[in-house]
Amino acid sequence: MKCSPDKKIIVAVDGFSACGKSTFARALAARAGYVFIDTGAMYRAVTLCGLRRGVIGDGHVDEQALVGMLPDVRIAFEFNPRRGASDVFLDGENVEKEIRGIEVSDHVSLVSRIGAVREQLVAMQRRMGADRGVVMDGRDIGTVVFPDAELKIFMTADPEIRALRRYRELEAKGEKVSLDEIRRNLSERDRADRTRPIGPLRQAEDAVVLDNSRMTLEEELRWAETLICERIERSCTSK
Ligand code: DC
Repeated sequence: MKCSPDKKIIVAVDGFSACGKSTFARALAARAGYVFIDTGAMYRAVTLCGLRRGVIGDGHVDEQALVGMLPDVRIAFEFNPRRGASDVFLDGENVEKEIRGIEVSDHVSLVSRIGAVREQLVAMQRRMGADRGVVMDGRDIGTVVFPDAELKIFMTADPEIRALRRYRELEAKGEKVSLDEIRRNLSERDRADRTRPIGPLRQAEDAVVLDNSRMTLEEELRWAETLICERIERSCTSK
């Protein structure tokens, strides 16, 4: 990027499930020389942990037990040079593949609606972005985690295109899931994300909308890079 390299900002990327937020945010962070933080992976890691320890199952969560186990759940990111991205570790184990499976996807909304879980993960996310120079993607980044982010992007895309993208992604990983199952999972997660009382998905007033239904990744990145440069200049001149 051609603008001032020493001034760093926070880029908050929020939006619906399977809009390509992580792909976009990861690539944008790489171009800007920023750290990419996938907050959905953190909710997924807590969900996986709950499933493994038997406090989540069959569409139910034992909230008290889940919250009770949080203090000794260790979530960390570690850069994987083969993927050019960070993998998620749960208690020292690389769980990047497992957290993307349908069992975790089916239960993660039940976990992400729990206030005590959100509180702890939000606190962690704030620590991770404290030095700025991050692109963080999620649902509440521009509204709750970093309401002072210099650039807020709200992503959306046609629901059918989103379902097809997720279907191809899982198919490529060898997971057997029907398109109908994915449609159901996405629409249920959209509903749950928008209606939960704490940290619901909503567009921040000062967010810019990115509808990538008919855009290439390169087009998305060029659009965002221009905005980053603009916001850096804006924050330099306002000081
Ligand atoms: O981005 P994702 O699909 O991997 O996110 C997984 C789930 O976690 C999603 O259903 C909503 C939830 N989530 C959230 O509530 N808040 C965030 N900041 C990120 C994700």
